[in-house]
Amino acid sequence: MEWPTLATLATHLTTTRTEPPVSQVPGGLVSVRLVAALAVLVTAAGVGAVLAFGDAPPIEQPMSFSHRIHVGQVGLDCQFCHTSARRSTVAGLPPLTTCRGCHLEVRPDSELVAPIHAAWEQQKPIEWMQVHDLPEYVRFDHSAHVNRGVDCSTCHGDVASMETAQREVTHSMGFCVQCHSDNAAPLDCTTCHY
Ligand code: HEC
Ligand code: HEC
Ligand code: HEC
Ligand code: HEC
Ligand code: HEC
Repeated sequence: MEWPTLATLATHLTTTRTEPPVSQVPGGLVSVRLVAALAVLVTAAGVGAVLAFGDAPPIEQPMSFSHRIHVGQVGLDCQFCHTSARRSTVAGLPPLTTCRGCHLEVRPDSELVAPIHAAWEQQKPIEWMQVHDLPEYVRFDHSAHVNRGVDCSTCHGDVASMETAQREVTHSMGFCVQCHSDNAAPLDCTTCHY
């Protein structure tokens, strides 16, 4: 994939976004959103609202799902369900048909599997809660990493031993920048910021 130059990026941003255009600052092109993020941080510090990154409570999902069983026991590859990780910015979540395809045959009468059938009857997807959530001013691309052979576990921990996914690795700027620096991957601000 061709990444745009700063000039074309600036044109793109100013012509296709509904948000205010990028502003030019010394040292590079920093988006309004990033500047806004900085402002929020400064304000937060000003009122003494220090964010505490302690142990987050486990994320509750609308139904039981075990990565340990499906990866460890059944032997499915991560990308069997997260099919777009190699091709796209997002990894994607499996559609209901993926679950239903097996569970019409496997444990079809299990209480734990019942929400799959119920969702199908109502023609509604299962509303999985988001586990990872980068701030909106950060740009991320799964395919760039997966195609370079970076393992899922580097950024997600040992999901194969988890039930529903939990946040094990903190996606701080330092985490990203350290690896980019070690692997001669791009380090300019616009690589990761809009
Ligand atoms: C270099 C780090 C990195 C690697 C490698 C990586 N991920 Fe991610 N993943 C992230 C980050 C960061 C997010 C959060 C993105 C956001 O909030 O915009 C994320 C989000 C996700 C999500 C939820 C959002 C989405 O993209 O659908 C899934 C599912 C996921 N990753 C699965 C995987 C799988 C499966 C692999 C391996 C094939 C993988 N990831 C490899 C960093 C990584
Ligand atoms: C490739 C086939 C396959 C796919 C796809 C699949 N499963 Fe499963 N699932 C299994 C197998 C095999 C078991 C283990 C059954 C056993 O222990 O006897 C299982 C177990 C389960 C269980 C526990 C059932 C019980 O009674 O203990 C739940 C819940 C479940 N799966 C939900 C899902 C959901 C949700 C999806 C979609 C995101 C999904 N499965 C996709 C094959 C599959
Ligand atoms: C049978 C399908 C299936 C397989 C195989 C599977 N996953 Fe998942 N994955 C799911 C489902 C369903 C969810 C949503 C529930 C949850 O968060 O656990 C999910 C959620 C995730 C999330 C959290 C997404 C978010 O909201 O940020 C990550 C990360 C993830 N999986 C990584 C992996 C990795 C790594 C593997 C391989 C070791 C893997 N998954 C294998 C079905 C699967
Ligand atoms: C394990 C090492 C590693 C980690 C951790 C990592 N990256 Fe990367 N990243 C790379 C490598 C290697 C490339 C590929 C560079 C290339 O193809 O030239 C890359 C490429 C990218 C690209 C595409 C850049 C381009 O110009 O093609 C983006 C965007 C990116 N990373 C953002 C992030 C963000 C955001 C994080 C943290 C959430 C992160 N990366 C964490 C190693 C890593
Ligand atoms: C390899 C990816 C990457 C690069 C390169 C990068 N950042 Fe970040 N940056 C991130 C991620 C990821 C976050 C979000 C961290 C979080 O949510 O805790 C972030 C957050 C920030 C924040 C919000 C405050 C904070 O620290 O959480 C600012 C400001 C920022 N970056 C500025 C910059 C500037 C200026 C540059 C260029 C010198 C830059 N970043 C380069 C990934 C990157």
